Amino acid sequence: MRRATRWPRAPSCFGSRTRPDRSRPARKTASDVDRGRLGNNCGMRIAVCLTEQKAEPWLEGLRAALPGAEVSAWVPGAAPADHAVVWAPPQAFIDEQPALQTLFNIGAGVDALIKLRLPPSLTVVRLDDAGMAVQMAEYVCHALIRHFREFDGYEADTAQGRWSFRKPRARSEFPVGILGMGVLGRRVAQAVAGFEFPVHGWSRTPQQVPGVRGYAGDAQLPQFLAATRVLVCLLPLTPATTDILRHETLSQLQPGGYVINVARGAHLVDADLLALLDSGHLAGATLDVFRTEPLPADHPFWQHPKITVTPHTSARTLRDESIAQIAGKIRALQRGEPIAGVVDPARGY
Ligand code: NAP
Ligand code: GLV
Repeated sequence: MRRATRWPRAPSCFGSRTRPDRSRPARKTASDVDRGRLGNNCGMRIAVCLTEQKAEPWLEGLRAALPGAEVSAWVPGAAPADHAVVWAPPQAFIDEQPALQTLFNIGAGVDALIKLRLPPSLTVVRLDDAGMAVQMAEYVCHALIRHFREFDGYEADTAQGRWSFRKPRARSEFPVGILGMGVLGRRVAQAVAGFEFPVHGWSRTPQQVPGVRGYAGDAQLPQFLAATRVLVCLLPLTPATTDILRHETLSQLQPGGYVINVARGAHLVDADLLALLDSGHLAGATLDVFRTEPLPADHPFWQHPKITVTPHTSARTLRDESIAQIAGKIRALQRGEPIAGVVDPARGY
């Protein structure tokens, strides 16, 4: 494999928050001359490394948003870049790009990324809403209301040509608990509260969200679960949250509990969910994420009458919004300003 160091280093135009590039010559470069004309991106290099996505529209969008930057799809042996825009990059990409300053993940969850061996100097930045929060609010409200209003039952009646009413249910008896009160959890909480359900939120540190009763840390998890009938998981996947939806926790939900997992498949112990559905303690589940994706054809979730499966689609990355956000953050870094969405490797999110 060719060594990345054979390429000349692109000059950096970053402010004091970034590491100085000691290899940069002091003399004026062509990129310095071009700085004003090209929007101050002065020869900055951006590598795009996307698994399961077409790179071309991202390349075009980033070039348009950051005139003057050299934006290219990564191939082994490519020139060293200053920043990268990635989804599930291989370890080889990280290993070959030791000069990278910032890694922009085109999703909110960074669990796949931080499993890689990353240099400590590399800043990982996740997408910060970028149009995902409202999608998540739609998805969760749809699953909640479909369950609460018994729309599955009406669909079955319709299929039989049967005109029959179900007794209205009290929303006070369907308190919603949201695990994770971050960018997405807060937006979901706001939407659910708009339908006048009681809302509880659990986070690692105390969070004040209007209309939401807050709980924080492991000590308050039992209280949160006991207050919840419809449980929404919007946690990042970290060692502390893996398997959090297991028999011990799910059995603490109110009888007739309902689970909506829109975070990561490894939050849920599949067999424990099935056992609690079969025992009747849980009434159903809507699952968007799975331990293995695509969900294998022989997985029992597909055929279970109380489970709704969707293909990891609750909040999709929106390309234009994401490019605008990433370009805005690169420009903020150039000005030496702090940016939102920086991942803390110690916390894992
Ligand atoms: P975020 O802003 O980082 O929020 C994470 C929340 O979880 C925070 O409130 C945090 O507490 C809490 N948390 C983390 N670890 C915890 C722990 N050990 N105990 C209690 N609370 C804990 O993340 P986000 O943008 O809302 O996204 C959440 C997750 O959604 C992502 O990580 C991703 O896995 C998933 N997601 C799924 C889809 C999809 O299509 N299915 C799309 C986008 C995202 P603090 O507030 O105290 O920090
Ligand atoms: C999708 O799952 C994301 O993390 O953005």
